[in-house]
Amino acid sequence: MTETHTEVPTLYPPPAEFAANANATEELYAEAEADRLAFWAEQANRLAWQTPFSEVLDWSDRPFAKWFVGGKLNVAYNCVDRHVEAGNGDRVAIHWEGEPVGDARTITYAELKDEVCRAANALTQLGLVAGDRVAIYMPMVPEAIVAMLACARLGVMHSVVFAGFSASALRARVEDAAAKMVITTDGQYRRGQAVSLKAGVDDALAGLDDSPVEHVVVVRRTSIDVPWTEGRDVWWDQVVPAAPAEHTPEAFDSEHPLFLLYTSGTTGKPKGIMHTSGGYLTQASYTHHYVFDLKPESDVYWCTADIGWVTGHTYIVYGPLSNGATQVVYEGTPASPTEHRHFEVIEKYGVSIYYTAPTLVRTFMKWGREIAFAHDLSSLRLLGSVGEPINPEAWRWYRLVFGNDRTPIVDTWWQTETGAAMISPLPGVTSCKPGSAMRPLPGISAKIVDDDGNELAPSPDHGEHVTGYLVLDKPWPSMLRGIWGDPERFTETYWSRFAEQGWYFAGDGARYGSDGEIWVLGRIDDVMNISGHRISTAEVESALVGHSGVAEAAVVGASDDHTGQAICAFVILKAHHADMSHEQMVDELRAEVSREISPIAKPREIHVVPELPKTRSGKIMRRLLRDVAEGRELGDTSTLVDPGVFEAIRASK
Ligand code: WT7
Repeated sequence: MTETHTEVPTLYPPPAEFAANANATEELYAEAEADRLAFWAEQANRLAWQTPFSEVLDWSDRPFAKWFVGGKLNVAYNCVDRHVEAGNGDRVAIHWEGEPVGDARTITYAELKDEVCRAANALTQLGLVAGDRVAIYMPMVPEAIVAMLACARLGVMHSVVFAGFSASALRARVEDAAAKMVITTDGQYRRGQAVSLKAGVDDALAGLDDSPVEHVVVVRRTSIDVPWTEGRDVWWDQVVPAAPAEHTPEAFDSEHPLFLLYTSGTTGKPKGIMHTSGGYLTQASYTHHYVFDLKPESDVYWCTADIGWVTGHTYIVYGPLSNGATQVVYEGTPASPTEHRHFEVIEKYGVSIYYTAPTLVRTFMKWGREIAFAHDLSSLRLLGSVGEPINPEAWRWYRLVFGNDRTPIVDTWWQTETGAAMISPLPGVTSCKPGSAMRPLPGISAKIVDDDGNELAPSPDHGEHVTGYLVLDKPWPSMLRGIWGDPERFTETYWSRFAEQGWYFAGDGARYGSDGEIWVLGRIDDVMNISGHRISTAEVESALVGHSGVAEAAVVGASDDHTGQAICAFVILKAHHADMSHEQMVDELRAEVSREISPIAKPREIHVVPELPKTRSGKIMRRLLRDVAEGRELGDTSTLVDPGVFEAIRASK
């Protein structure tokens, strides 16, 4: 019998019909190449400036960039008011779909404008002024977006904290930013159950010696009982609806801070990544227009991220709204009440552009294609992926099952720090290789280099790959402007690896493919990527050693078919805990990490070991632990103090 072999394509050219109508053309690259700064000036003019900028980029104080120098604008005005003024007030801005089935709201741009103005007036009444910080700790309800825009309108920085994070994570972020206000909800729905959220805020604030928070504003969502502090706590529905719907937006400097977003670094302390106004909004708007090929009159766009992550900031709030898009915002999880939910939502609203994470694509694969095939998904014309490298198998499945094997896929590489997409195909232009984010977008420059900064050569498609560091060798408008309160850490973290060349080092390893396209391989530092969420090994280690029974802990990310990476911990217990069984201890530790950080950070495995592998200088050899976690033969152990320690570790696995 002969085996039949079906060739799977390795290159997916854009469909002709898509290309003919695409926002992007090949010329965009040439235009940006010819005069990069003129190109960005043109993109900035997508926005309404109250005072035009006089200089595109001031890079004299590197690594602290200033974009669109001298320009003044109001970010919220750009996202809301100007669409109403242009006659599009009746266009739907948000089709909101609550977790409980049947719970839905439609919000037009005119309605959104009134809400944002009311909220801005109410927040001013409560004492906020430009430059203040506000923590937003909310599920995916429309008020969360309104709150972000109201802050932007006032020149107040928001710091959105993912509502799945623990009270202690919220406390650390409120404290670091000295937030004057927390905006939250009474509770949130988790798979049909209402659970408290406000109680977590109280916990967080009670743990602060000297709380900077003057008010906690509470949106009613689940109507469950909440603890209340008279004088400090305020119901949203008692202050916002009563406030006037007229509010004159003030124009702020292009470099006026817009938001802080905390993300994990290589130490246990999260970094407050700082973004500013003009450059950030320019690149958010530009990339959303070209990468998602947005046609605001006809498309229904859906990004499945949460506003707790940068994807939600840039591709739910600032990108789509600045472009006058109509979008779906969904409150719940993909399996509530059944695995059909996302497909039902696509069908219900006629979603045409769908942007999600590889981990969710793999979940859908696990559930089976029959679920998708039970629905009419013919409205979909473009798919997107973000958060981690998408494996070619998932890429093909996504295109076949969601896209009927005809929709382009944009695999967008970027980071909290980059603010907006950096490396991605342009739909209608790029022929894609599944698994590769392809080329830097027009206006963006990236390189893959070796230890000495020499650019790598393309790798063949098969055989040995040469891998290197992914660097951004030219500044870009939505780049981070610093780490809140820690300029040295900013320079040290991102600009010291290739200080001589003045490049930004992203922390990712990558290689060039045979056509010079970029394949991002993942983090090379001590940062893990769990379902597209960034968690540092140090954060989890510090949660583990925070338990009274733990003497020492080492954490590594091990590859996982479902979540990309999974957390694998090795702990040494203190002697007095010998009375508790190891199983009990491991259960307790997993719960502790979940409480301290988030359920996302709960280790997949915790191994109680007698010793950890260390070098003579006392450094834990994570590389070797990763070998153990992934069941590989051990790499070079010659620098270990006691190579025998692995026998003991293996025995306890
Ligand atoms: C890290 C940034 C960007 C929003 C979500 C994550 C990894 C992100 C891709 C992609 C390969 C990717 C990188 C990056 N990553 N997108 N398309 N292909 N890797 O934001 O939490 O700041 O994490 O996510 O490792 O450095 P983040």
